[in-house]
Amino acid sequence: MSATTPATRTVALLNQKGGVGKTTTTVNLGAALAESGLRTLLVDLDPQSNLSLHFGVETDEGRPSTSSLFADPPATAWDCVVEARPGLSFIPADTELALVEGELAGRPDVQSVLRNALAPLHTRFDCILLDCPPGLGVLSVNALTAANEVIVPMQAHYLALRGLEKLLETVQLVAAGLNPQLVCSGVILCMHETLSSHGKAVVEEIHSHLESFRGTDVPWRHCQLLQPPIRRNIKLAEAPSFGKTIFDYDSKCPGAEDYRRVAQSIVAMWKGQQEQAVQESAPPLPLPATSTG
Ligand SMILES: Nc1ncnc2c1ncn2[C@@H]1O[C@H](COP(=O)(O)OP(=O)(O)OP(=O)(O)O)[C@@H](O)[C@H]1O
Ligand SMILES: [Mg+2]
Repeated sequence: MSATTPATRTVALLNQKGGVGKTTTTVNLGAALAESGLRTLLVDLDPQSNLSLHFGVETDEGRPSTSSLFADPPATAWDCVVEARPGLSFIPADTELALVEGELAGRPDVQSVLRNALAPLHTRFDCILLDCPPGLGVLSVNALTAANEVIVPMQAHYLALRGLEKLLETVQLVAAGLNPQLVCSGVILCMHETLSSHGKAVVEEIHSHLESFRGTDVPWRHCQLLQPPIRRNIKLAEAPSFGKTIFDYDSKCPGAEDYRRVAQSIVAMWKGQQEQAVQESAPPLPLPATSTG
């Protein structure tokens, strides 16, 4: 692969804690990346199907879904893809996905089923965002095996910081075995209370925690606290009830503004990584090409 070869960024949006903003971030970050010209695929890996509901898709409608990718034999990934908007597609989930854990037991490829299933889509998409369920079960491990990188949506709370440390240890375990290229590239603060003094103290602590690993060889040594934090904004909670992304629902509200800006930060981070890889003449990290149409 050359530095100019378009390749697909596969990003796991992961946090073992529930209700921290994983799905809201997958949908709206994905929509912002699509708006910026990247061909984007979202994969719903949660049996709650919340991502699918953001696009007005009810579960269990008999359509091919994420659980079809885990079937033996699996469905063809392209048959599971639903185009939501120009440049923005998703693979819906259904409640069957809850059974996958048991069904995969005993299969030799238990942790790499998703990676193998998504591989044929790499020529079709510049980035693939994986909306992980809460917890660190077999679906999350499949996401970590399929991904190049992890972005952690979290709140600026003390206990969330302790959770982050545990999550990074899991990333390290997967990077040490199943997926050596895996890195944790960013943390996105969600539902952020900009004025809370506790929040400010925790932001400072996250920052110095990440800084303390620069120059080491852990998979989060380059991890950034992505800017800006996503402010608490009721429009982000309202949009899914209309089956809309924040850009379709209210493209000028603070939530839309924050997700647009954080998408710009991520694209800039990817470009910086690629430039650095070229300078170091190391095999380049994949950078999605901007689609022209
Ligand atoms: N910035 C925000 N402002 C206001 N509400 C938000 C914001 N981000 C998320 N929410 C709301 O918080 C709730 C939890 O968010 P979300 O579903 O994205 O979390 P999650 O981590 O995916 O949860 P789960 O672990 O259950 O999958 C949802 O009701 C969502 O609409
Ligand atoms: Mg979710």
